[in-house]
Amino acid sequence: LEEIIVNTGGSESSIYAGYNWECVEKLLPEKAVIIITDNNVFNLYADRFPACPVLRLEPGEKIKQLSTIGYLAEELLKSGIDRSGFILGIGGGVICDITGFLASVFMRGVSFGFVSTSLLSQVDASTGGKNGVNLGEIKNVIGNFRQPEFVICDTEMLKTLTEDEYLSGLAELIKTGIIGDVSIIEILEKHYEEVLKRDSQVLSDLVVRSVKYKASVVSEDEKETGLRRVLNFGHTFGHATELHLGLKHGFAVASGMELASAWSKELGYLEDEEYRRIIRILRKYNLLTDNRIPSGVMEELISHDKKKAGTDIHFVFIEAIGKPLVKRLPVKEVIDFYKQNIKGN
Ligand SMILES: NC(=O)c1ccc[n+]([C@@H]2O[C@H](COP(=O)([O-])OP(=O)(O)OC[C@H]3O[C@@H](n4cnc5c(N)ncnc54)[C@H](O)[C@@H]3O)[C@@H](O)[C@H]2O)c1
Repeated sequence: LEEIIVNTGGSESSIYAGYNWECVEKLLPEKAVIIITDNNVFNLYADRFPACPVLRLEPGEKIKQLSTIGYLAEELLKSGIDRSGFILGIGGGVICDITGFLASVFMRGVSFGFVSTSLLSQVDASTGGKNGVNLGEIKNVIGNFRQPEFVICDTEMLKTLTEDEYLSGLAELIKTGIIGDVSIIEILEKHYEEVLKRDSQVLSDLVVRSVKYKASVVSEDEKETGLRRVLNFGHTFGHATELHLGLKHGFAVASGMELASAWSKELGYLEDEEYRRIIRILRKYNLLTDNRIPSGVMEELISHDKKKAGTDIHFVFIEAIGKPLVKRLPVKEVIDFYKQNIKGN
């Protein structure tokens, strides 16, 4: 059990990793709480929700749109929630992103917290205070930074995830291992069986390590003007394939990490042995599939990447496990590498 604090100057957020999620009752204010969740999570866990009104959404990325924020804001008004109210999101990354954004703009901001229910949201989405929705197909273009009061990560809840959702979360965990904490990779290598069986003890240990790393990065650079960029390892190519092929986030990021590692090796930043260790762990967990997309499509999608600065992009390379390297490059160079790489395959 660990309480990890994200300290971002203006605010403090507590992440409770390895806790039974039902302790959320103790963290909520006495009244004016409303829950936002999706139907999958509701069907599995609503009998243990705190006793307060619940707003339910359809599951999935499609709901992460401004129109949902409008709908939810009307429901909040109807239920009489005002600035002193509290919004509790219980769900995966989609519910956390929506809840955080809604809470930060409704009446110019009400308090909020999460019970983070998917592996992807426990190791990534619910820590760090990035909130937002998509604009059509373009991901997370409408959003802001605001930290939740608390996040609860209970790894027992991960037992009900589908296999694909679970593996997708493992990819983000591997990413954290590659960029920041080699012990995550060691545990994933050594405890393969337990990880596949979703042993909650091993998972709690992994979630704690991942949250600690992300909390340390976000506490230093909340608004992504420097260090936080390393968290985008694998995401430049990954986001594009995710959009074009409709892949689950983690699988797309895994392919992006494969490419970014190959490029790092080609440029002489990464030793062959380290490169092979990265590929081995991605393969071990069945995360690498053939996700090539036409280079023209890749170019189009990367040029819409919101991390782009003019005609340049901050690309995350890797020098060794635990040692990311961010370089500002012309988008053209990124596309040229992609073209050459898919030709070579
Ligand atoms: N804000 C950030 O920093 C950040 C970081 C990474 C990803 N994200 C966002 O997170 C989203 C992806 O998160 P996700 O993969 O959790 O998606 P998600 O919220 O759609 O959850 C995936 C699926 O799992 C189901 N689910 C969730 N918890 C469950 C449980 N305990 N048991 C059974 N089913 C469960 C959901 O109903 C859904 O069908 C994307 O929109 C991505 O942009 C945000």
